[in-house]
Amino acid sequence: MPFFCCLCRNVPVGLAGGLLGVGAGNHVKYLRMSETIIKELAKSRILIVDDDRTACDMLREALEGADYDIQLALSGEEAVELGRAAPFDVVITDLKMKELDGIEVVRAFQKHSPEAAVIVITAFGSIDSAVAAIEVGAYDYLSKPFNLNEIRMTIRRALDRHPTKSAACAAPESMPRPGMDEIIGQSPKMVEVYRIVARVAKGSSTVLIQGESGTGKELIARAIHTKSARNDKPFMVVNCGAISEHLFESELFGHERGAFTGAAGLHRGILEEANTGTCLLDEIGEMPLYMQTKLLRFLQDGEIKRVGSAHSLKLDVRVLAATNRNLEQMAQQGTFRGDLLYRLSPIVIQIPPLRERREDLAQLIDYFLKKYATALTRSPMQMAAEAMDILTKYHWGGNVRELENVVERAVTLSPSSIIRPETLPTRLQFPDRSETEKDPAYPVTLSLREMERRYMLQVLESVGGNISRAAAILGIDRKTLRVKLGTRN
Ligand SMILES: Nc1ncnc2c1ncn2[C@@H]1O[C@H](COP(=O)(O)OP(=O)(O)OP(=O)(O)O)[C@@H](O)[C@H]1O
Ligand SMILES: [Mg+2]
Repeated sequence: MPFFCCLCRNVPVGLAGGLLGVGAGNHVKYLRMSETIIKELAKSRILIVDDDRTACDMLREALEGADYDIQLALSGEEAVELGRAAPFDVVITDLKMKELDGIEVVRAFQKHSPEAAVIVITAFGSIDSAVAAIEVGAYDYLSKPFNLNEIRMTIRRALDRHPTKSAACAAPESMPRPGMDEIIGQSPKMVEVYRIVARVAKGSSTVLIQGESGTGKELIARAIHTKSARNDKPFMVVNCGAISEHLFESELFGHERGAFTGAAGLHRGILEEANTGTCLLDEIGEMPLYMQTKLLRFLQDGEIKRVGSAHSLKLDVRVLAATNRNLEQMAQQGTFRGDLLYRLSPIVIQIPPLRERREDLAQLIDYFLKKYATALTRSPMQMAAEAMDILTKYHWGGNVRELENVVERAVTLSPSSIIRPETLPTRLQFPDRSETEKDPAYPVTLSLREMERRYMLQVLESVGGNISRAAAILGIDRKTLRVKLGTRN
């Protein structure tokens, strides 16, 4: 199997490297010849698999003009044989075939040619088989009838985000990424998350996003919505931990006028507001048990009844759920319904904690430095090497959210554009110190000005570096706070 470079896709590295080595003005003819060879080699190889010849031909015709090298296989067996003989970039296979079906084709390619992205074509509405295909390793699926643009775009995405090639070359620009630039991180674990996001975004199946607090669960949920066909429809977030138990049903399903004391008018629930779009049920582990039963019913039949109404409303809402709790354990303990967990998790995305992807730290720090320097209208900021060392070693129990707060605070407080270790919170500078040591009483030798400065810093730290909130607590405006701290530049 040749080793492919993702910067010049499909060109074996040796050849690309050789060409780069050709000196200026040297062997123009050789260069031209090689360009032709490269063009030939650079054609993406696509295999269309369907036991219906007409369907194969139609797809091939639709892809003509896109400069692909297309081959046809009229059975699953033939596809597997062709795949063993030579590598393909993309395989498009029908799901239902007489002998070896689409799922088996996916399995065989996963085993023998994992570099191929397999796209499965499923019958209209057969979401279960689509999920089954994804579970055994299909790159994506398309439901019949699909329009040709859709298939062209899916192929393009599969070619652009080829996981094997990207991972092998580790070139950050070409890693698979969701359609949201603000998700940072190219560690293998995050790349795997992006792959799943890309695969699941297009369907409507429920997705459970698990991860510690601050890992980016909501960000990933938004990416799924943004990349889905629903992206111009509403995206609603319900924080299940923030709704009081007796109002839950009304918040989610809405209520009719006079349904209970205080229900003055008709109220549409969050699910109704999210109709045709996506609803994220955040902190789903906090949902009261009686509500879990009602949610399960909604997930099964897609219908809700507003509180106080006898009529059902049919809704089309894609439900995403997020949690930092162990729902399986909760189900065993009887605090979370096992059948709801089962229904919520045909697809589970596990977001890794920051300590398990330290290779993402530098990129994240850089991103937040730019973000907050711009927001606070400061000139470009940088971490001093010693500060960077501290950030790299810290355990980041609060994950990306904690890192973001630390960088925001540092950008706010740093007197110069180079952030020194002293500007970082004491818990980072002295991680081994006990809590009481971290906050020594003010020595009596301090001047009033220094005392004021330290107090302002303490307040700022207590609000996670949020300068507006600190200024409000101190009873001064933001500008005065920044002037007093000497952080204006
Ligand atoms: N990969 C990332 N790239 C850039 N920013 C990120 C990333 N992950 C998280 N963040 C930022 O960190 C903060 C926390 O992210 P988010 O709210 O999505 O986490 P969460 O897992 O939902 O947290 P919680 O469990 O506390 O609700 C947000 O400001 C988000 O923008
Ligand atoms: Mg969240």
